[in-house]
Amino acid sequence: MRATLALLSAATLAAACGSEHEFAKVRRAAIERRAPASSSAAAAASAASSAVASRAATTASAAVNSAAAAATTTATAAAATRTDEASAAGIKDPAQECAPYYYPPVGALIADGVFPAIWEIASLSTAKPDVTALFQSLNSSIPNIAPKGTPQGDFASVQYDGATDPDCWWTYRQCRTPKREGIKPDVYNVPTPDTWGLTYDDGPNCSHNAFYDYLEQQNQKATMFYIGSNVVDWPLEAQRGLADGHEICAHTWSHRYMTALTNEQAFAELYYSKKAIKEVLGVTVQCWRPPYGDVDDRIRYIAQSLGMQTIGWEDNTFDYEIATLSRATVEANYNDILKAAGNGTYSVNGTIVLSHELNNDTMSLAQEYLPKIKAAFKHVVPVGVALNNTAPYVEPGYTYPNFAQYIGGTTTMSLAAPTAASTDISLSLPLSTGATGSVSATVAYASATNSGGSAADAKASGKSAAGRVQPGGFAGALVAAVVGAVGAGAMAVML
Ligand SMILES: *[C@@H]1O[C@H](CO)[C@@H](O)[C@H](O)[C@H]1NC(C)=O
Ligand SMILES: *[C@@H]1O[C@H](CO)[C@@H](O)[C@H](O)[C@H]1NC(C)=O
Ligand SMILES: *[C@@H]1O[C@H](CO)[C@@H](O)[C@H](O)[C@H]1NC(C)=O
Ligand SMILES: *[C@@H]1O[C@H](CO)[C@@H](O)[C@H](O)[C@H]1NC(C)=O
Ligand SMILES: *[C@@H]1O[C@H](CO)[C@@H](O)[C@H](O)[C@H]1NC(C)=O
Ligand SMILES: *[C@@H]1O[C@H](CO)[C@@H](O)[C@H](O)[C@H]1NC(C)=O
Ligand SMILES: [Zn+2]
Repeated sequence: MRATLALLSAATLAAACGSEHEFAKVRRAAIERRAPASSSAAAAASAASSAVASRAATTASAAVNSAAAAATTTATAAAATRTDEASAAGIKDPAQECAPYYYPPVGALIADGVFPAIWEIASLSTAKPDVTALFQSLNSSIPNIAPKGTPQGDFASVQYDGATDPDCWWTYRQCRTPKREGIKPDVYNVPTPDTWGLTYDDGPNCSHNAFYDYLEQQNQKATMFYIGSNVVDWPLEAQRGLADGHEICAHTWSHRYMTALTNEQAFAELYYSKKAIKEVLGVTVQCWRPPYGDVDDRIRYIAQSLGMQTIGWEDNTFDYEIATLSRATVEANYNDILKAAGNGTYSVNGTIVLSHELNNDTMSLAQEYLPKIKAAFKHVVPVGVALNNTAPYVEPGYTYPNFAQYIGGTTTMSLAAPTAASTDISLSLPLSTGATGSVSATVAYASATNSGGSAADAKASGKSAAGRVQPGGFAGALVAAVVGAVGAGAMAVML
């Protein structure tokens, strides 16, 4: 049966995508902050900006990291003291932390046209020839699945076969086991019981020092899903995540709904987020999380071809909606997960939980809840640790603890210092998927691969009658709000 996907109004979607709005605000702020240069750093920044502008990037991109040009005298003074990861980590006033600054290695890369414009949908329009060639070598083997809806997540006009969910579209009904052969299933939980897989998305946030200081004091590591545009905007803050011993994964370049993008855009979103982390932190990540969870077999295939395992979540705090849901509602969501730890829900598998370093509210709530999480769960660990993934990056020199070591108290093993490149370096990518039909062994996550075709996603098929999306698995008011807004008889898309 073919059916029209739900009639999510623009207003409903706006309510469901708070973080998108936050990013738009930040983009505007970055542009508004630009002011005449008043120091030599600022002059250098200006030069970088012009170089960027002259290759016809957007005004937004000129604000990136060139931003020492921004700002007041005070902010410039703070920026001047921020020369490396450690000095950036030492800034404790959030306003100072978020003062734009110029970091020469990244400024040079921007001037060289290595990255697309920040916060714009990535494409290959200004790509170096090797990147375009890489895409061309891949494009013909990408599953032939049409883009869905809009990059803002409006799926109202999408025609989709809900009965068979042929694309294993997570947003439709949380499918996680690909229908196409050779594509790895998503990681969304951990094999260790009574474990909270700790993840924070949308960083690095410029004001994260208090939160990261707290994690450091608690000797607590997490999996951090970094947005490429934030990494380029706040390079020293991104380096802190690695230096502190967190596990770093990618979260796309501009944080859009990936299933809406063309092959080229989806490739560029994934490629450039991985590239930004490599150039700024010096490591090649092998994991990513789709913004809003929005992924299907076409997007999974592209990610896997770029050597990245898709990581979702089992439980959602909905903290990214804190401004509209209220703090109390998000606390109730946290509390539900804590309660479930007491009734055997996680006695076989542990959970991976979605939470954010999006802004001060989500970070302060995360901080407040960490002791409660540690009280309710036996173990609170990064995803890679629960999976014994001791070599999360392609580069040697970074050895993370396995699960036994971590819970035994060794939470950091061997970590090379983060080092930004000042000239363009190429990514080492497996690209062995698809064209050859084999699955790359260099992806350390989840060794199981889907045997193909007929594998239905048990969770999804058990939950949904044809044509009607069930709000399975989600806690909190958002689901009710979305379902309510859509109304009886229509089909809803859960975010
Ligand atoms: C990639 O392949 C798709 C068809 O699968 C095609 O529509 C598209 O034009 C190709 N893109 C490029 C840039 O070649
Ligand atoms: C466990 O607790 C959670 C949260 O209160 C609840 O949603 C779930 O249904 C409970 N499960 C069982 C098996 O009691
Ligand atoms: C544990 O998780 C795996 C997927 O990671 C799943 O296949 C299995 O069914 C889960 N077991 C239980 C008892 O939920
Ligand atoms: C980072 O957090 C600050 C403080 O809450 C917030 O104002 C800002 O919008 C966040 N930045 C991004 C890029 O989300
Ligand atoms: C951040 O949140 C904490 C806890 O709610 C609050 O005490 C603090 O004033 C907030 N900081 C800013 C800069 O808003
Ligand atoms: C992790 O390693 C331990 C031995 O140190 C083993 O018992 C456990 O099964 C491994 N877990 C996974 C997910 O491989
Ligand atoms: Zn996100």
